[in-house]
Amino acid sequence: MFYTPRPTVRVEVTDTGETYRCAKDENLLRGMLRLGRRGIPVGCVNGGCGVCKVRILHGEVQRLGPISRAHVTLDEEAAGCTLACRVAPQTDVVLAVEGRMAKPFRATAAARGATNPTPQPQP
Ligand code: FES
Repeated sequence: MFYTPRPTVRVEVTDTGETYRCAKDENLLRGMLRLGRRGIPVGCVNGGCGVCKVRILHGEVQRLGPISRAHVTLDEEAAGCTLACRVAPQTDVVLAVEGRMAKPFRATAAARGATNPTPQPQP
């Protein structure tokens, strides 16, 4: 019997400089939590609270479930915003924390010495 590891890709959280490997079939938040990493704010992990709202700056993700319009509007989604607990990375991904947690999260990350607390979208 052969062990075939799940394919993974690299995820970078610009707010904290955190990087981790995430399987292509698990959501961005679960992949981070599985490794005991920090970087994306964690809430319900089920698409209901919006705490894990992020903006995908680079790379491709695939939806694993519905994205609540109460937390991510269609315009925001078109601009790269999504919920980290609802999407799986398909390529290496660079993301930034968005939404109501972004400001306090970046302040905390800056206090801890993160290198890039004000990320900019990439083309
Ligand atoms: S953690 Fe609550 S919506 Fe993702």
